[in-house]
Amino acid sequence: MIPQPSKLAMVPFVSVENMMKLVNEIGVAEMMQGIATYIEDDFRRWPEFDKTPRVAAHSEEGVIELMPTSDGETYGFKYVNGHPANMARGFQTVTAFGLLARVDTGYPILLSEMTVLTALRTAATSAMAAKALAPDGATTMAMIGNGAQCEFQALAFQKILGINDLRLYDIDSSATDKVMKNLANLGLTLTKCSSAEEAVQGAQIITTCTADKQYATILTDNMVGAGVHINAIGGDCPGKTELHRDILLRSDIFVEFPPQTRIEGEVQQLDADHPVTELWEVLTGRAEGRKSAKQITLFDSVGFATEDFSALRYVRDQLEATGHYQNLDMIADPDDPRDLFGMVQRAKG
Ligand SMILES: NC(=O)c1ccc[n+]([C@@H]2O[C@H](COP(=O)([O-])OP(=O)(O)OC[C@H]3O[C@@H](n4cnc5c(N)ncnc54)[C@H](O)[C@@H]3O)[C@@H](O)[C@H]2O)c1
Repeated sequence: MIPQPSKLAMVPFVSVENMMKLVNEIGVAEMMQGIATYIEDDFRRWPEFDKTPRVAAHSEEGVIELMPTSDGETYGFKYVNGHPANMARGFQTVTAFGLLARVDTGYPILLSEMTVLTALRTAATSAMAAKALAPDGATTMAMIGNGAQCEFQALAFQKILGINDLRLYDIDSSATDKVMKNLANLGLTLTKCSSAEEAVQGAQIITTCTADKQYATILTDNMVGAGVHINAIGGDCPGKTELHRDILLRSDIFVEFPPQTRIEGEVQQLDADHPVTELWEVLTGRAEGRKSAKQITLFDSVGFATEDFSALRYVRDQLEATGHYQNLDMIADPDDPRDLFGMVQRAKG
């Protein structure tokens, strides 16, 4: 008889199908709110984490990255790509999967799709940061770049900040039409704009979420008025930015992990010692967030490993109650740990 896998060999796996079931059972906005709580909790214990800039393999077409971290008890990593030219081929710009493991034994405890989860965690992080940085009473957000991340950002800002007015612009107007359709009847007032200049009119929050493998100028200095919060998502690789440098010079800049953001974020356009404030310091009260109504705050988001770790923790905590996973026979775990060869032989039957 072929030996059956041991219990330890089995790793819960959340497929795309199960992730979608999980999101739809919990509700997309509610799930982002839940993930935001986990992300914030982990930012608040920032010093406990092992932190390193992600390992990036660049090519002409895009980038493939590994994002590891650990809190000493649990280890996590995400595999993620960013290929702006993919859309024209009918592929996604960003896809991802990730894993959690026990630090004491090294055995994995969760494997999950993370393409959907990345969109959820990115939007959750943006809204969590905006809660600390955006002007009080903000109701209107400009959303420039209406691709895969867009609806998630909109719904996280609606749920967590009370944004109810969305001004949309994309160079490809069919992307905006997709968002208008997906977000219809969800309590948001949607305005389709014909330029980025038009989109930012009257917005207290500006989210830039475009994909282009170059230094792009989605926002110029004259488009950003006093008191605005900028949530800059799409500048997240060396040579890939969205904001004119002059905007950065007028803003107070908030970042996730400076050694990574200085390589990948909007601040790559500035001197290496240009002052930035770390988000975890704002969330723990060590540093001030927004200080005045006139201040321009900029969350120079690139996406950091702890956010994925938090999102995976959240997913893991939902598994027992929802059952939206399957067990994968992933770890070769012979009864006698040294008899790996014997286990293979016995499998001949
Ligand atoms: N900071 C983070 O944590 C994080 C996480 C995920 C993705 N991202 C980045 O966010 C960006 C968007 O990701 P996505 O999955 O939505 O990509 P996507 O390719 O699905 O959408 C990008 C959209 O931007 C539009 N666009 C490109 N240039 C534009 C311009 N000049 N003006 C207006 N619109 C323009 C495109 O037409 C497209 O609709 C990417 O750059 C990605 O790398 C960042």
